Amino acid sequence: MRKPFVAGNWKMNTDSSSCVELSEGIASGATETASAKATVAVFPPFVYLPSVIKALGTSNVSVGAQDVYFEANGAFTGEISTSMLKDIGCTYCLCGHSERRHVIGETDELINKKVAATIAGGLLPVLCVGELLSEREASKTNDVVTRQLEKGLAGLSEEKASAVTIAYEPVWAIGTGLTAKPEQAQEVHDFIRKLLANMYSDELAEAIRIQYGGSAKPDNAAELMAQPDIDGLLVGGASLKADSFLAIIQGAI
Ligand code: PGA
Repeated sequence: MRKPFVAGNWKMNTDSSSCVELSEGIASGATETASAKATVAVFPPFVYLPSVIKALGTSNVSVGAQDVYFEANGAFTGEISTSMLKDIGCTYCLCGHSERRHVIGETDELINKKVAATIAGGLLPVLCVGELLSEREASKTNDVVTRQLEKGLAGLSEEKASAVTIAYEPVWAIGTGLTAKPEQAQEVHDFIRKLLANMYSDELAEAIRIQYGGSAKPDNAAELMAQPDIDGLLVGGASLKADSFLAIIQGAI
């Protein structure tokens, strides 16, 4: 059985006091749940990572970064390395979130380097994949997801790939209030799992967790999670309030 993995992607939100308040709210409600039934993580902005890690204290809520650079150190103004993230206590790192692909312009090749560096640096990557609305309408969803997965995981051995969580996030559902129907999401999750079985093995495909992301909320968490290949949720907007994030965790377990 795959343990549900619920994560909050705070994007470019919160400030120095609200990040602590949100962390404390999540920690107080999620501690027992988190340890027993689900993996819970939050992805705050870089500058608030230390405050969030401190505020989460001994709770079982893990922390990850929303992005990382693939070089270890050196003259890369503005960038953050995996060793820096590890040094302050991060566990996870998002790689290839759709906003980084489509707003910032990251390529599959760059994302692949970030995934590889994340694993090499001892962190666990969450590789995000998903199609644009125009790609779905042109029946290209499977092609897009195949390209993003094959290029994103290129060069990774089975052992390394087993450290990865996949997040399927249809771009048209992110921040729009339009959630993929559970069956629509399940269809792509099933496709992704079969693709992973072809790329690696049935064992890896069975073990790897595939999160759904895109307007996940308290009132749709349970129905999404009821699908056999949806193993968790990557939550944006609804993770910015402790109550709604905790309700989503409850719906997911
Ligand atoms: P959303 O964002 O829940 O606000 O749609 C999800 C994500 O981008 O990870």
